[in-house]
Amino acid sequence: MPGTEHKYKIVSTEVLGYKGSKVEFGETISSPLYGFKTWGQNEDEFKMVVFNDIHDRPQIIPQLLYRHGYTGNTKDYDFVVFNGDCFDWVTEEQQMVDHLIKPSVDIFATEFPFLLTQGNHECRGSFSRHIPEYYAYPDNKYYFAFTRGPVRFLVLDSGEDKTDDSVEYGGLSAFDRYREVQKKWLEKEIESPEFKKADFRVLLIHISPYHSGDWHGTMHCRELFGPVLNKARIDLQISGHTHRYMTHEADADHNWPIVIGGGPLEGKRTLIKLHATRKQLDLKMIRDDGELVGKFLITKKNK
Ligand SMILES: [Fe+2]
Repeated sequence: MPGTEHKYKIVSTEVLGYKGSKVEFGETISSPLYGFKTWGQNEDEFKMVVFNDIHDRPQIIPQLLYRHGYTGNTKDYDFVVFNGDCFDWVTEEQQMVDHLIKPSVDIFATEFPFLLTQGNHECRGSFSRHIPEYYAYPDNKYYFAFTRGPVRFLVLDSGEDKTDDSVEYGGLSAFDRYREVQKKWLEKEIESPEFKKADFRVLLIHISPYHSGDWHGTMHCRELFGPVLNKARIDLQISGHTHRYMTHEADADHNWPIVIGGGPLEGKRTLIKLHATRKQLDLKMIRDDGELVGKFLITKKNK
């Protein structure tokens, strides 16, 4: 139910073993009581923060959130996006827990949701196919749309950065066809009432189709998604991947502004903060030392 408060605690009892049909139980452990509120249908505003390219450096999460995620003692966010490449290679369950779930739960994820969009590194490693077992996705797909208050979010999976026949992928990749499938979905989504009636439209995609070099992933995203996105009246795109933070105004190739977060080394990491209201999108990109390195203020009357 939208806009509903919930209280919960997590209780776990160890199963020591079975003797025939008899189960032997061990100790029961229990978490404190937590609470969260589901998003309301007609929320007028929200605040989110975006990480990208953490690359198996989980300390980035507390460092950036504690330094730049608060005004006084109040959190400046109630929604967190990890915009791809949280990991280098996805190899085991413990990595899912230690490098993303635990640092998130320690700070915010008992109360607020987070979203992991797929970066090219989420496609790599023997355990990568288990990602959906740890982080939920609508319809088990990495491309989807959802509405939060004034914003319709588009999430696309830019896939791998090199061609499918690259030796690194061992013949297991088919990102070209997968991007074609996404393009078809995108064409439908931008015609939907939810998309059309939203006050603002924000695109989350790990590899920006523009200003991200000329490797195959970038160029194929541009070729397929570019024309559709240029029709869609996107207000803002948030990406990562290049490890160099940049902002790009709308231009002849893309009629919407693009923000690319940096990372993962000290001095290059960024926390992107977006405050959305019915009237405006206020984006600020903060470098780890606190310097404001990018900003956009997009008002509804400019549309
Ligand atoms: Fe990447």
